[in-house]
Amino acid sequence: MQSTIFVITLVLMAVVGWLFWRAVSAVNGKPAGTNINKRRTQLIWGMVIAGVLISVGSMREWPYAGASEKPVVVNVVGGQWWWEIDKESLPLHTEIEFRVTSEDVNHGMGIFNEDLQLLAQVQGMPGYVNKLYYTFDKPGTYQVLCLEFCGVAHHDMINEFEVVAAE
Ligand code: CUA
Repeated sequence: MQSTIFVITLVLMAVVGWLFWRAVSAVNGKPAGTNINKRRTQLIWGMVIAGVLISVGSMREWPYAGASEKPVVVNVVGGQWWWEIDKESLPLHTEIEFRVTSEDVNHGMGIFNEDLQLLAQVQGMPGYVNKLYYTFDKPGTYQVLCLEFCGVAHHDMINEFEVVAAE
């Protein structure tokens, strides 16, 4: 998919470049190179160069890198007062799709790194499956804590998973 878009973009850029080339040729074909024609040529070439630079620069990082690959699905169920996570070990540098729901009341699924910094969060709601996409770029142990007050043992809703380098 990405390579198709890349080829289409290159073709369209070539078409636009060709149109500019035609414009430049037309300007140069006019008799007697007056100052205004010279300026126009410079302007067009400036636009061509700027267009190529901006296009190449903005294409270097794809906004959804890896989105065409299927994410790894992890099912998470929250309940009073536990988290059930159906995978203990997740691959590094791979998009993870957390499918989060609740068995009773609303819970807030928060993913924390080893420094207890919040990386991502989504609501776990009864009757709904909310999706959260995240790609881990560091191996380690990650904790899932509840971010929604859900009763007396809310603070005990802790579980964890590992992120390991894919083999
Ligand atoms: Cu579940 Cu707080």
